[in-house]
Amino acid sequence: MEIPTNDGPRVKGRFQCHVFICANERSDGECCAARGAFELLRCMKKRARALGVDTEGGLMINKSGCFGLCQSGPNVVVYPSGDWLTVSTAEEAEALIDRLAAEIA
Ligand code: FES
Repeated sequence: MEIPTNDGPRVKGRFQCHVFICANERSDGECCAARGAFELLRCMKKRARALGVDTEGGLMINKSGCFGLCQSGPNVVVYPSGDWLTVSTAEEAEALIDRLAAEIA
């Protein structure tokens, strides 16, 4: 099997910014899902929609698997900045989307 390299043609990014929120569930309850990740995901998507940045060229928000920081969270990773954050409340989720929307404007 040939492993792809970065030498080939690049796929142009469809979004300027990509937000991943861990929505992993663990049987011991020590996880982002148990701390409200799905509600925060919905909150972030709703805010992005309200701001009109949930379109191509704007902001993409997806749930992800575990980031390995299960003792904290819900955990969020933002690209292309590479920022790792903990977002605990709807207000924090909205503030993050507000900041990212302003950065890509
Ligand atoms: S469950 Fe979210 S980082 Fe592990």
